[in-house]
Amino acid sequence: MPKDSLTVTDNRTGKQYELPIENGAVRGMDLRQIKVSDDDFGLMSYDPAFMNTASCKSSITFIDGDKGILRYRGYPIEQLAEKATYLETAYLLRHGELPTKPQLEDWKKNITLHTFVHENVKKFMDGFHYDAHPMGMFTSTMAALSTFYPDAKNIFDAESRQLQIYRLIGKVTTIAAFAYRHSIGLPYTHPEDDLTYAGNFLKMLFKRSEAHYKPNPVLEKALDVLFILHADHEQNCSTNAMRSVGSSHVDPYSALAAASAALYGPLHGGANEAVLRMLKEIGSKDKIPAFIKEVKEGKGDKRLMGFGHRVYKNYDPRAKIIKKLADDVFEVTGRNPLLDIALELEKIALEDDYFVKRKLYPNVDFYSGLIYQAMKFPVDMFPVLFAIGRTSGWVAQWEEMLLDGEQKIARPRQLYLGHAQRQYVPLVRR
Ligand code: CMC
Repeated sequence: MPKDSLTVTDNRTGKQYELPIENGAVRGMDLRQIKVSDDDFGLMSYDPAFMNTASCKSSITFIDGDKGILRYRGYPIEQLAEKATYLETAYLLRHGELPTKPQLEDWKKNITLHTFVHENVKKFMDGFHYDAHPMGMFTSTMAALSTFYPDAKNIFDAESRQLQIYRLIGKVTTIAAFAYRHSIGLPYTHPEDDLTYAGNFLKMLFKRSEAHYKPNPVLEKALDVLFILHADHEQNCSTNAMRSVGSSHVDPYSALAAASAALYGPLHGGANEAVLRMLKEIGSKDKIPAFIKEVKEGKGDKRLMGFGHRVYKNYDPRAKIIKKLADDVFEVTGRNPLLDIALELEKIALEDDYFVKRKLYPNVDFYSGLIYQAMKFPVDMFPVLFAIGRTSGWVAQWEEMLLDGEQKIARPRQLYLGHAQRQYVPLVRR
């Protein structure tokens, strides 16, 4: 009769242990009973970079990396991208169900209400140097918000959490737009209640002297879809940061600033920016083979940016949607000349043994930058756009972590391999 358990023999002692298997996993703490003597600390598992360790149970996002499947709360990403709006998706992520009409109206109303920021936020942002990276401005301003809302420390008060979630989803667009306007020296524009989430963001970015800014509906829709595609991706580096920092019970603005900092890196949300720089550096299709050769030889730590993923060992489903979306956008903006290089790069890489063997496929960042650039976003803004979409995932994961009775402050163990105790040597004798 098969049993949901794992029998382990410790060959140091000959003892056997039976570890329960639950949801396809054994508990790390169940290893601790495996000891060679009573004063032995007990066996640990060693897993740098969490390659095979689940840090939580979650009901938010499902990924099957081998099949290229992504679902939010059970709904396929393809259906949400085609039929839902970003705010509807944000509601779904947080509440677990699609909203009814009145629920969605209320959600939208509250988020829109909280797109406004305190006037002092502007003064704070004015302090940044004119060429400050917008992601640096975004991250620090999100952290600074915790000083504006000390009530956010009440993380176990459901009403307070709700309010901070409205504020966070609402204000990220305003702060992102302010960061952009600051970098080009234009006055900040305020949010407008009767625009959509994406439309309002476009207005705050690009409004000049016209009395009424009207966002282009194709670009507005494309941006909304991009926000949906970036909304959540289970336990990625930045979400892990949000949960880990949040597990110390700090306020959500501070935790979100940490998540945003994690997203900034070129191996994560900064990859879309790196892809564009890479395509520019390649410059023309005839230079692609030489570039691929350098990547394969690992010259200067070169990687094919926008390729590969820790979880997907198949085409990233988001990249497929974005590739199609690019056609709609380019019809309005004109074709991005870097697209030809990207398409050719993809074709060559997908036929190359190096990439095939390692199951390296285009990820979400490979084509998103081309759309952003065609929409006139400067390259520096790309990770900020990622952060706006990901905010709904971060807050949903943060709240799930707080309400999970099994969670505690995140605190990994280490294998200490340094010196044993030794005596201090005075300076003159060193
Ligand atoms: N170009 C060339 N080789 C690569 C690449 C790449 N983009 N990605 C992985 N490899 C190779 C890597 O050198 C290694 O080869 P070997 O086995 O010979 O040492 C093998 O593939 C496995 O790579 P890894 O670094 O162990 O894989 P990982 O799961 O730790 O890293 C990754 C995942 C996304 C960090 C990595 O694929 C990468 O650096 N990609 C480029 C950056 C990028 O596009 N990031 C965006 C990720 S998707 C959006 C997001 O999550 O933010």
